[in-house]
Amino acid sequence: MKHHTQHPGWSGLAIAIALALATQGCNDNSSEAPKETVKDNSYYRSLAEGMVARMTHDEQLGMLVGPGYVFANGAFEINSEALNNLKGDVPGSVGYINGVFNAESGLDIAASKMADGAAGVRISPTREGEGGTFHGTAFPVGTLLASTWDRDLVKQVGAAIGNEVKEYGLDVWLAPGMNIQRDPLNGRGFEYFSEDPLVSGVMGAAEVEGAQAQGVGTTIKHFIANNAETSRSIVDNIISPRAIREIYLRGFQYAEEHANPWAVMTAMNKVNGTYTGQWADLNTKVLRDEWGFEGFVVSDWWSGDGHYADMIKSGNDLIEPGGPALPYGYGDALTGLQEAYAAGDLSAEEIKQGATRILTQVLKMPSNQGDVASNAPDLAGHARLSRQAASDGMVLLKNEQGSLPLAQGSKLASFGITQVNTLKGGAGSGDVNAAYTVNLVDGLGQQFSVDAGLADFYRTFFEQNKTSSDFGGISTVVSCPEPALDASEIAAYAASNEAAVITLGRNSMQGQDRANAKGDYLLSDTELALIDEVSAAFHGLGKKVVVVLNTGGVMDTSAWQDKVDAILLAYMPGQEAGHAIADLLSGAVNPSGKLTQTFPASYQDVPSSAGFPGTDTDGDGTIDTHYYNEGIYVGYRYYATFGKGVNYPFGYGLSYTQFDYKNAAIQSNTLPDSNGKVTLTATVYNSGAVAGREVAQVYVAAPAGALSKPAIELKAFAKTRLLAAGASETLSFEIPASWLASFDGATNEWVMEPGAYKVYVVPSSDVTGIAPLTFNLASRLVVGKTTPGALALPAGVTEASFETQY
Ligand code: BGC
Repeated sequence: MKHHTQHPGWSGLAIAIALALATQGCNDNSSEAPKETVKDNSYYRSLAEGMVARMTHDEQLGMLVGPGYVFANGAFEINSEALNNLKGDVPGSVGYINGVFNAESGLDIAASKMADGAAGVRISPTREGEGGTFHGTAFPVGTLLASTWDRDLVKQVGAAIGNEVKEYGLDVWLAPGMNIQRDPLNGRGFEYFSEDPLVSGVMGAAEVEGAQAQGVGTTIKHFIANNAETSRSIVDNIISPRAIREIYLRGFQYAEEHANPWAVMTAMNKVNGTYTGQWADLNTKVLRDEWGFEGFVVSDWWSGDGHYADMIKSGNDLIEPGGPALPYGYGDALTGLQEAYAAGDLSAEEIKQGATRILTQVLKMPSNQGDVASNAPDLAGHARLSRQAASDGMVLLKNEQGSLPLAQGSKLASFGITQVNTLKGGAGSGDVNAAYTVNLVDGLGQQFSVDAGLADFYRTFFEQNKTSSDFGGISTVVSCPEPALDASEIAAYAASNEAAVITLGRNSMQGQDRANAKGDYLLSDTELALIDEVSAAFHGLGKKVVVVLNTGGVMDTSAWQDKVDAILLAYMPGQEAGHAIADLLSGAVNPSGKLTQTFPASYQDVPSSAGFPGTDTDGDGTIDTHYYNEGIYVGYRYYATFGKGVNYPFGYGLSYTQFDYKNAAIQSNTLPDSNGKVTLTATVYNSGAVAGREVAQVYVAAPAGALSKPAIELKAFAKTRLLAAGASETLSFEIPASWLASFDGATNEWVMEPGAYKVYVVPSSDVTGIAPLTFNLASRLVVGKTTPGALALPAGVTEASFETQY
């Protein structure tokens, strides 16, 4: 039996391939693992220890390395020769964990199947020789999910994705992506949740929890600091230990501690001189010894520089996809480990340890629990959830004089090629092979009377001018230029319609960063002219102009935001895009999303902009080193502390109603207990005319001390239920001491410094003019201790090596 599957997310290399994977060794012997799921980790751990003890040395080694790919007939194919005990393949899986079948020892461990991506499950939608389709539901991208600030909803999305993983016969979902949105030009920013580690951690934990409750594994990634796509497989990110701890690790730590992901995926890049997949400080000292992680660590695909034994020794247990690191020319991974063992550089204990960690999780997985793929997940139900998540996360940035919502049924002139070429998600391994995408013009058509002539013009232009490029066999990027309209045509549309909607689109992708250039971060001349001309014509007749942004991330708004009446940030909404956007424009859903990333006044204001995406230090034409000069001052921490005005602050988002905050109060404070916490309540009152939901946020300003402190940091948040006009809800917030502490690299401690702590319970990170609550801490409080010297800067690099010392 031969299946065609897809090539894994392969950074920067857009190669159309179809992998052929021959299943082998299939049998119906039942696994040794028990049929009951959901036992605690220690149960599976002892089972795994017993099995690993019965394995041959080669079987143990085989668990540490995926089967790899071979290049044959002009395409990459899974190396089926090296794939042990696969029972029923799932075409489109991007990696496998080897199983074991040994009649002598009686071991029969099925291989595990792993699939991307971030916005849903990405497998091949069709199978050679089989009828039917195998679509994953495309949910909103990570940034849009996080913008709901609704952990329960994100957990439901995780559960739906986990269900698809299971029903399609897979074992591990290679997501969620939890990197910090350090710079808006990161090509994969759309996959990630936020510039803030708490939002990132809470959302990651929610998705993991939802998915794993279905009995499948998740893989939080990319651990850590995969914050740019340029040179991602070689770049050395130089980051202060404080910034690593407070910004880049904290979200992962939250997810690890609250949701116990079965796996963590290391990043491609180096940090402080060492590949993350070879860094024991990260994979052992911090992740396991400090945080107590019990799962396995898997490498990103073809990451590192071929020092495979160093990966295993560092605690990166599983090397994927295995085989030779084809894109970079390193040797075969399994051979590398065998040679290291023969040379005494890798011990039998280290091999057993990795195999045991992997097997502990593998035994819980569907392939070893006797689960049978139904191939029939509830796609209709998941589509409804996708639509709800999309409309709950979109952010209303501007709404002058109640321009929105537009009356249902009103006559709309809809401009912009993106209404036809609507982007459900970004490109690369985070893409999903969904059954459909509802484009915006069709979605609008269900709730409004859309100008048919104008819609036809865009549909025809799109059909005649679209181009498509294949992204590495894993996604198709469809592009189309923005057509220019002349002023007389626009005037006619203004005369015959009640309002204008202009949709602007921005794709972005794995393997390539965005550019601070026209047509990307900045609007193109054609787009600016469209806004100018449509605004002049419609405003001249007293009619409103609404802009919809269908983008993977931040775009410039400074050049044009004053010219339009309303702006809806739709991000990349998943397959129900058109429906969800129309729900908000019509008021069928009241916007309740808020920004999890800042919209700065200009790209130059972004604290990382001067150094992004790094420097070519050795002059070979490739960027190799990237100093994180801004330290902990990422996103709003920077703008708020250094008084930089922004266009739309972190945490911001409008509603069609208004909310008042009343009776904010600290209810309890068990500090200075180092395990203590501060609890608060505040009542949110809907003082407007329509029902809505509000996201309330708690920011803390810590006292200045030995360590510099951001002006404010998010410490808690909560979202109300749907409040009818006049209704209110009292929200509770809990801030543990661990989240109030800063990292003191001089003493390797998490500390709260003495003094007055100001607490703001607010609708966004703009706390101007808001009176804080306060609590006091009498003396320095050590909240946690860390491994001395871990995560240190490379030799020869000091705090003084950074351009700024905060
Ligand atoms: C990506 C990962 C992905 C993997 C497998 C890599 O290139 O960085 O996010 O899970 O490929 O497709």
